[in-house]
Amino acid sequence: MCGIVGYIGTQQAAPLLLEGLGRLEHRGYDSAGMAVLGTGGALRMAKRSGRVRDLAEEVPARFGGKVGIGHTRWATHGPATDANAHPHADAAGRVAVVHNGILDNASALRAMLTDDGIELASDTDTEVLAHLVARSGADTLEGRVADALAAVEGTYGLAVVHADFPDRIVVARNGSPLIIGVGDKEMHVASDLAALVRYTTTVAYLDDGEMATVTAQGFTTYRHDTAQLHRTHRDAAPVDVDPSAYEIGEHESFMLAEMLEQPRAAERVLRGRLNERFGTSHLGGLNMDAREIRAIRRVKILGCGSAYYVGQMGASLIEELARIPADAEAASEFRYRDPVIEPDTLYVAVSQSGETIDTLLAVQEIRRKGGRVVGLVNVVGSAIARECDGGIYLHAGPEVAVASTKALTTMFLGFSLLALQLGRVRDLSISDGRRLIEGLLKLPEQIQAVLDTEAELTVVAKRLAEADSLFFIGRVRGFPVAREGAQKFKEITYRHAEAYQTSELKHGPLALISEAVPTVALVPDDELVDRNVAALHEIAARKGPLVVVTHEGVDLGDLAHSSTTQRIDVPRNEKELDPILLTIPLQLLAFHAANHLGLDVDKPRNLAKSVTVE
Ligand code: F6R
Repeated sequence: MCGIVGYIGTQQAAPLLLEGLGRLEHRGYDSAGMAVLGTGGALRMAKRSGRVRDLAEEVPARFGGKVGIGHTRWATHGPATDANAHPHADAAGRVAVVHNGILDNASALRAMLTDDGIELASDTDTEVLAHLVARSGADTLEGRVADALAAVEGTYGLAVVHADFPDRIVVARNGSPLIIGVGDKEMHVASDLAALVRYTTTVAYLDDGEMATVTAQGFTTYRHDTAQLHRTHRDAAPVDVDPSAYEIGEHESFMLAEMLEQPRAAERVLRGRLNERFGTSHLGGLNMDAREIRAIRRVKILGCGSAYYVGQMGASLIEELARIPADAEAASEFRYRDPVIEPDTLYVAVSQSGETIDTLLAVQEIRRKGGRVVGLVNVVGSAIARECDGGIYLHAGPEVAVASTKALTTMFLGFSLLALQLGRVRDLSISDGRRLIEGLLKLPEQIQAVLDTEAELTVVAKRLAEADSLFFIGRVRGFPVAREGAQKFKEITYRHAEAYQTSELKHGPLALISEAVPTVALVPDDELVDRNVAALHEIAARKGPLVVVTHEGVDLGDLAHSSTTQRIDVPRNEKELDPILLTIPLQLLAFHAANHLGLDVDKPRNLAKSVTVE
């Protein structure tokens, strides 16, 4: 979603801002802009709907200055027009503001400003901030920004420059990330590490309710949640991140690079966490002892989109291994039904970015009501990770493509580790624990084996790409896999893909099956295999083309010889771990179908990598 960059130092700001904005493109956006303070104190702005490269065309020549802020916008208030792009300025053109998040009382503030004779130049909520900063009577820029923030309600990460205070950028955070990057006589700000790592990996993360003054020499932080500004003490620290992880390398897209990295990501999430002797896992970050684990009566998993679907996979793992009732729910719905929070329920928030606002708000709701939440989060130090009582970092490395692949795989493994631990503290036998560990250790190699079938999957994907509408079906452990498969397919191919429980087909959707509507069916060799194969015959009898993702040796009967049935075999492992091996081919099918259609797999239309607004 929206992204912020800022620079202050000894170099020309504009090229650095453009470069930083380019690094935020993956978050999803529809317009971009920047404001630079010239040496004579003039504030210059350029902003456009469209891509960062469109903005770059009009920037370089006239944008001298060593202080500036930039933004990529994902439209919320008002369409993607030049006027609505950030930065937003006050009427005199002396203040410029870039903002991520949503101001809930923007309509009232816009009406108040209009009544006072201010002509608003955009439809956005952000513009009010520029006018409020300009109207403040405080002596300092920090005081003016704090006055403006006292009037707004909602979420923000923001950066402000002011022609009267040309030696600083003021930044603030409330619910939307803001990171300060420390260089040598220069400083950077950004909403995402991706925009900083090329320049520095020494960073400070602001907390909610905190603001900072950033000058070329350093930064100072304050709390602004009272009428006064109070100094806080925050040190910058090196982050353990490999800047090359944000580079596409030899691959044609981040999505492909990230899918191919899955065996390594799987090794990382498991490393040091398996205890083969006792058939269990080490999860120090959970911050729970055996007695607390034994007291858990229920597990509730919360996530959005693919994180929700992998949460469903995790719930079945926990029920099977630990025999604790477990379910997953869309975090975006959770708090709106005024949920009952139980003290003996373990709540698990799952998120790649650690920024998804719906998941974050669900965590806050649970904690406010006294519940215990642990996180399965990829981004270290992210809002969700910090809000939780403990958790498991996923170590997937940066995920840039909008469609989640390697993070999802590590989430599944994170759930496996959690289920193993919950199970072993309860009734899972040591031999079952060891059996699972053996299975987990085989997974990186088996994931690689599925990735190695890419050429065959490409052929299948091209056929699927021709259909306007598809079904993905599975049962029990396979159903969340079907949901995730349909999600991946629809988000990057723009084809209609719907997931169903195989058992539900004949209760309605079978009416849609025809030669033109293929079905991707998940048929692992488990206790339901015969029923699943019977359902395939029902589809074939209605001329529905089939792609069957299954295990070697599963007998598909006559279908094996049908020209409209294609079969994809995945390696066998412990049946509890089937979901992840069934998921990998579905990622490749979606990827190659989208590629065949000539679509941008990394940046699907309308979508954003981190969904930081409700
Ligand atoms: C789909 C996808 C999204 C995310 C969802 C949650 O491929 O990536 O559905 O899974 O927006 O994002 P995180 O995991 O960052 O909370």
